[in-house]
Amino acid sequence: MGYRPCPSTGCKGKITADQATDAALMGRAMELAAMVRATTSPNPWVGAVVLASDGQHFEGATSPPGGPHAEIVGLAAAGALARGSTLYTTLEPCTHTGRTPPCVAAIMEAGVARVVVGVEDPDPMVSGRGIDQLRRASIEVEVGVGADAIAAQLAPYLEHRRTGRPWVVLKLAASLDGRIAAPDGTSRWLTGATARADAHRLRSESDAVLVGAGTVRADDPELTVRFAPASPVRETDRQPMRVVLGHAPVGARVHPALEMQGDLGDVLEQLGAKGVVQLLVEGGARVAHDFHAAGLVNRYVVYLASALFGGDDGVAMFAGPGAPTLSDLWRGRLIGLERLGDDIRVELAPAGAGPVAAPVASAAPVAPVAPVAPVAPAVPAGPAGPDGS
Ligand SMILES: NC(=O)c1ccc[n+]([C@@H]2O[C@H](COP(=O)([O-])OP(=O)(O)OC[C@H]3O[C@@H](n4cnc5c(N)ncnc54)[C@H](OP(=O)(O)O)[C@@H]3O)[C@@H](O)[C@H]2O)c1
Repeated sequence: MGYRPCPSTGCKGKITADQATDAALMGRAMELAAMVRATTSPNPWVGAVVLASDGQHFEGATSPPGGPHAEIVGLAAAGALARGSTLYTTLEPCTHTGRTPPCVAAIMEAGVARVVVGVEDPDPMVSGRGIDQLRRASIEVEVGVGADAIAAQLAPYLEHRRTGRPWVVLKLAASLDGRIAAPDGTSRWLTGATARADAHRLRSESDAVLVGAGTVRADDPELTVRFAPASPVRETDRQPMRVVLGHAPVGARVHPALEMQGDLGDVLEQLGAKGVVQLLVEGGARVAHDFHAAGLVNRYVVYLASALFGGDDGVAMFAGPGAPTLSDLWRGRLIGLERLGDDIRVELAPAGAGPVAAPVASAAPVAPVAPVAPVAPAVPAGPAGPDGS
């Protein structure tokens, strides 16, 4: 299903003159895209709005693979009213025939007068051709409306199409004193149910989840999406591919899993070639260190429990040498800070990363970093290690 009921405005209705600005309608297209974030990969999660000349608007979002793209869903909703309309789409319309026919041809055929595009599609099969073809057909095209926010929303897709590698999210749960497991190796459960649900939502948005063999031996995780009730993943029953660095023992719950070894850059190349757009790395300490040290992490998501081990003998977040001196300290950009029950979700981007407007697991618009809300009643404890947060 590529179209969902519009949460606030309804799917069809009059819009006021103020709302009928390019920015506002592109913002609406972004909301629609966010609704299908977990169901479209390896295709991009795109939103579209068709503004008819009489002021009505019609909406679409990308269907699961094989189904119509956002523009086609919006045009179908508009029907004859698409003639002379303005089409807003977060990503450049496609020109090639894949599992579905090209969107550009459908836009021309529908008689759309103007197309407003958020960002160009770097996919070599599109890459400016969609915009060129529309212009050659005398359709007015504007590119770049809401571009920074859309580039952030589509960052995993854009990264994959530009580099051939997945967008890498490193997720760990830790005590407030920075330990991801006790001295005896136990790590469940460090954080609570709300953080666990958020971590599963993050999984539902990922095409593959990776852990090291050490974590498989210590925790025997399943690495499946199980606790994200609000996630649209349930509609398609899509589960991320499970990847283990090294060997998972026979009988481990992670099976069937892809076992990989060697250079992490090569691992990413191979996963990218398999259509993995977003890779969620869930530890453990050595794997986290190796991805971080190699500069391969695009987003860090750390769930900090309001708990202390109170010593230095627990398992640190990163196993291996770190910065030798303060001037070598890795500093990121804080792009998300959220209270989840008694835990805190911290999201970082490497300094120098591109637009960072959208937290990786959140469909909500980005809020400025704010003080943590007042104390709420405690939630039941939930998993901490790689089967939760
Ligand atoms: N709180 C959390 O978020 C969290 C999450 C995950 C894990 N943990 C905890 O972390 C601990 C496990 O961490 P860990 O550092 O011991 O193990 P790990 O990082 O999960 O796995 C390390 C092992 O993976 C294999 N490996 C890693 N990179 C490889 C590569 N490039 N090629 C081939 N094999 C590779 C090696 O296996 P071999 O040894 O077989 O060669 C290596 O020893 C456990 O206590 C677990 O509970 C906590």
